[in-house]
Amino acid sequence: MKPNEGLVIAIDGPSASGKSTVSRQVAQALAFIYVDSGSLYRGMTWKAVQSGVDVRDAEAVVRMMNESKWEFFIEERVVYFQIDGVDPRDFLRKEAVRERVSDVAAIPEVRRFIVARLREMSDFGSIVMEGRDIGSVVFPETSWKYYLDADPEERARRRFKELQVSESAACVQSVKDSLLRRDHKDTTRATAPLQIALGAKVVNTTNMGIDDVVQMIVSEVNRSNG
Ligand code: CDP
Repeated sequence: MKPNEGLVIAIDGPSASGKSTVSRQVAQALAFIYVDSGSLYRGMTWKAVQSGVDVRDAEAVVRMMNESKWEFFIEERVVYFQIDGVDPRDFLRKEAVRERVSDVAAIPEVRRFIVARLREMSDFGSIVMEGRDIGSVVFPETSWKYYLDADPEERARRRFKELQVSESAACVQSVKDSLLRRDHKDTTRATAPLQIALGAKVVNTTNMGIDDVVQMIVSEVNRSNG
């Protein structure tokens, strides 16, 4: 395989569609840098909660954003960041962030700021970036676009399992309600709603193992660069 300088693999889809695990493993298999774009939206939300900013007050969020200083760095081929000198990674999946992130992600100025940061990440080298609008807005010109989906029941079961590890989740039904609420906000917002990007390959992962999805993507990339 030739060195894949500057390749971007965009992996989009709704919550708990298998995106994160697949994206991380594809990045590992190809020795690419992994970028979780949702972590930046979560980071912005964390910063708002920390600063006591009401996320429904878009002006206040944008003011806070404009005063914040972001620094990006790589650890073991994964992109992380600090906001005003603090690395928020341990707080990004907490309920306070989870329940507010779709409101923050719907603010056009926030999206503009984060999309610009995400585009700069191709300077790190070849990347696998997962999110909601990577193939449609952030890197629309890439030839590598995947849209992963799964039935809501299966997605709720997967997320429930993940949450059980990190915190006590009420029940599968409440996890499913929370996912569907976020899906609804993400697909109906005016700016860059979640949608299948032009040219994206749609993969329904309901009955597929993670390994099968990873294998499919890796061999497609290897085949056309080999
Ligand atoms: O892990 P999960 O798919 O549940 O969420 P995430 O990828 O961490 O994204 C959290 C939230 O950030 C989503 O519900 C979207 O509101 C927003 N987001 C977005 O708007 N655009 C992206 N490219 C990535 C995330």
